[in-house]
Amino acid sequence: MQKRYLVFGAAGSIGGEIVRQLRNREFHVIAAIRSHHQETTGRKFTQLGAQCALIDDVSDRACVLGYFRQFPDAMLDGVVYSVGHCPPNGFDDAIRYPLSQLPFDKLTAEIRMHQTGVLNVFQLMLSHVKDAGCFLFMSSAITKVSDDQWPPFLHAHYHAGMIAAEDYLIRGMRIDPAVKSRGIKIHRIAPGAVNTPFHHGGPFSSSAVSVDTVGNAVVEALECETVVDRQITNG
Ligand SMILES: NC(=O)c1ccc[n+]([C@@H]2O[C@H](COP(=O)([O-])OP(=O)(O)OC[C@H]3O[C@@H](n4cnc5c(N)ncnc54)[C@H](OP(=O)(O)O)[C@@H]3O)[C@@H](O)[C@H]2O)c1
Repeated sequence: MQKRYLVFGAAGSIGGEIVRQLRNREFHVIAAIRSHHQETTGRKFTQLGAQCALIDDVSDRACVLGYFRQFPDAMLDGVVYSVGHCPPNGFDDAIRYPLSQLPFDKLTAEIRMHQTGVLNVFQLMLSHVKDAGCFLFMSSAITKVSDDQWPPFLHAHYHAGMIAAEDYLIRGMRIDPAVKSRGIKIHRIAPGAVNTPFHHGGPFSSSAVSVDTVGNAVVEALECETVVDRQITNG
C-alpha cells in the first residue's frame, strides 16, 4: 500500500524539497502549510499530487488539532517536522544581534518553532502514526561548532540554544514508553548551512550542502528500518 507522510514546514525551502522528493517516489504526501502559502505553494503541491493541510501555527495546540478536522482518518507512516525561520536573504537579520541586544521576540519565536511546536506535533500526532512508523525532525549542525571555530560575526547562539534543546526533546522521545512499545522511530537530520535562498550571497554559501542532498537524506531516513541520526556537512 502507498505510504503516507505528513510534512510540517512544507512551504519552506527544505520542506518543499522533501514534498517534491516524496512525490517523485509516488508516496502519498500531506503538506502542512500556513494559509498565506495556500495560493502559491499550495497550488504547486496540488499539481504535484500532494494534499495540503492548513495549519497556521504549530505552537498553538488548537491549530495543530485542526489537522484532524481536515484529515480525520488518515493513519500516517511518518511525520516530518521542518518548521523554522530561514526566509530568502534572511541570514544577515538572523545573526545581527549579540545577546545583549537581542530583541526578545526573536527568542520567543525560536521557542515556539523549536520547542512548543516540536512537542505539540509529537504529542498530538503520535496516535495517528502507525506502529513501526516514524517521526523525522530537521535539526542543525550548528550545535557542533566549537567555540574556537565559531565566527565572531555569528550572533546565533539564541538559535543554537533552541536547536540543542530540540535535540534533547528528540532524545526524550526516543525513550518514551509510548514510542518504544509501538516500535516508532524518531529520526534526526542535522545539516550545516543548506544552499537555500536564506544563505545566497552570504558567508556560508560556498560551503553549503545542496537542498537535494538534504531532501534525499530525509527520504532515505523515512524508509530506514532503524533510527537515523545524521549530521550532513560539506567538509
Ligand atoms: N536553511 C538552512 O541553511 C538550514 C540549515 C540547517 C538546518 N535548517 C533547519 O531546517 C528547518 C527548515 O529550514 P528552511 O530553510 O526550509 O526554512 P524556511 O524556508 O523558513 O521554512 C520553514 C517553514 O516553517 C514555517 N513556519 C515557521 N513558523 C511556523 C509556525 N509557528 N507554525 C507553522 N509553520 C511555521 C515557515 O512559514 P513562513 O514562511 O510563514 O515563515 C516556513 O514555511 C529549520 O528548522 C531550520 O532551522 C536549515
